[in-house]
Amino acid sequence: MTDISHDRLLIIDFGSQVTQLIARRLRELNVFCEIHPYQNVTDAFLAEFAPKAVILSGGPDSVTRAGSPRAPKALFEYGVPVLGICYGQQVMMEQLGGKVLGGKISGGGGTAEFGRAYVEQANDLPLLDGWFKDGKEQVWMSHGDHVSMLAPGFEVYGTSPNAPFAITGDASRNFYAVQFHPEVHHTPNGAKLYENFVKLAGFSGDWTMDAYREQAIEAIREQVGDKKVICGLSGGVDSSVAAVLIHEAIGDQLTCVFVDHGLLRKGEAEEVVTMFRDNYNMQFIHADEQELFLGELDGQSDPETKRKIIGRLFIDVFQKHASEIEGAEFLAQGTLYPDVIESVSFSGGPSVTIKSHHNVGGLPEKMGLKLVEPLRELFKDEVRALGRELGLPPSFIGRHPFPGPGLAIRCPGEITRPKLEILREADAVYIDQIRKHGLYDEIWQAFVAILPVRTVGVMGDGRTYDFACALRAVTSVDGMTADYYPFTHEFLGETATRIINEVPGINRVTYDITSKPPGTIEWE
Ligand code: XMP
Repeated sequence: MTDISHDRLLIIDFGSQVTQLIARRLRELNVFCEIHPYQNVTDAFLAEFAPKAVILSGGPDSVTRAGSPRAPKALFEYGVPVLGICYGQQVMMEQLGGKVLGGKISGGGGTAEFGRAYVEQANDLPLLDGWFKDGKEQVWMSHGDHVSMLAPGFEVYGTSPNAPFAITGDASRNFYAVQFHPEVHHTPNGAKLYENFVKLAGFSGDWTMDAYREQAIEAIREQVGDKKVICGLSGGVDSSVAAVLIHEAIGDQLTCVFVDHGLLRKGEAEEVVTMFRDNYNMQFIHADEQELFLGELDGQSDPETKRKIIGRLFIDVFQKHASEIEGAEFLAQGTLYPDVIESVSFSGGPSVTIKSHHNVGGLPEKMGLKLVEPLRELFKDEVRALGRELGLPPSFIGRHPFPGPGLAIRCPGEITRPKLEILREADAVYIDQIRKHGLYDEIWQAFVAILPVRTVGVMGDGRTYDFACALRAVTSVDGMTADYYPFTHEFLGETATRIINEVPGINRVTYDITSKPPGTIEWE
């Protein structure tokens, strides 16, 4: 077995919205880290975890409030480098003998600071190697309170107009504390601080995707034991990578259920079946339920009604097939980090509320299943890297996202089989055009929507009365906001001609130039 014992960095989470980004920055440096809510990090936990360095995250509370969160007492005697960020800085000052002044939020007289700020260097420090090359550094501040007196041994290394102690440290103990958030993009040089910190702590940077894969496989084996796992496979990147990873861990203890609702793209069902059943030799159920879905959708044109019908039927069908798998105790899902909202309860209880986005919502409880979510620490591009590591074909890994309700939400108005057929053909031509022009990877998502309107045209000597369609292509980082893709007129003209010539049933092509917001990416 590959050696998976690596130097570990512990992130103590005080509930900041951006704690996950600290982990992300560290993985980019090939450093293994784990995030643990502060309530769980006792002196005993610390000794057992044996971190090589510790980062204290930001958080919404005020250290001036009685009962507010603290780091474990043993931390500052433990002898490893510590970096405190925002609330983490204030915790360090408070616990090490300094003072924090409450700001507007906690009712004190201190200054609050939210947004972009500029820090100037006050002293040299190895943590700041590569910083202040151009004088000031832009940072992102988000604090109500601020440090008003440094703890003994600390010095100031950087100041901003509203944070005289923006960067502080006690170099003899390798304790560092910053008021801003180096992990966010608005601190453009922030990654360098993390790089310097892990270098000071002696990390060798040997934590790769290969190591992640080995560790994830071990964790899956440990969680599942000799029980069985079912996985709802959509053919999308996330569930595919999760399935291949779990299959590598437990082989035939995994069964994948692929629900074909008749709303897939051209050739998609065959592609998924070939990939998983034939290439990976997985236990695989191909639930061909086109009749059921299209039957129930017949005559429905309201977007929410369509979505609800599809969601309900998907659960019914999945459950029907899954219940035939004897001994299944786990449900695998390709949940990613951004889907997971992990928050610490500040209302007094020690509980950690973890709210997951369930791809097959409600199922685990209904069926008494436990979840296996091996991707929940990863971001989308990391999942793609893991997929490459697992040997999934690049063309599969790089595919554009495809929504669960499929073509139903790209067919405004009534869904009919002939319309779906026309849509599939038009979409295939459009994607072929995009690939031929080498644009596929530049675009977050591209598709055709068939419009519920027929228009008059002329082809050859004859009149046509066919459907109009809309082409959609957007760039995006996470699907939350999007810009339309600026195709050239030549590309659009060529594509329109090809679609009209090659797809019977369409005689008019439009290009959707709406950004999100105010539009959405899908049409429904
Ligand atoms: P919208 O249309 O909301 O889409 O701007 C944002 C992203 O989410 C995808 N999408 C879905 N994905 N189930 C999914 O798995 C859904 O019901 C769903 N609706 C939208 C959409 O394709 C885009 O990538």
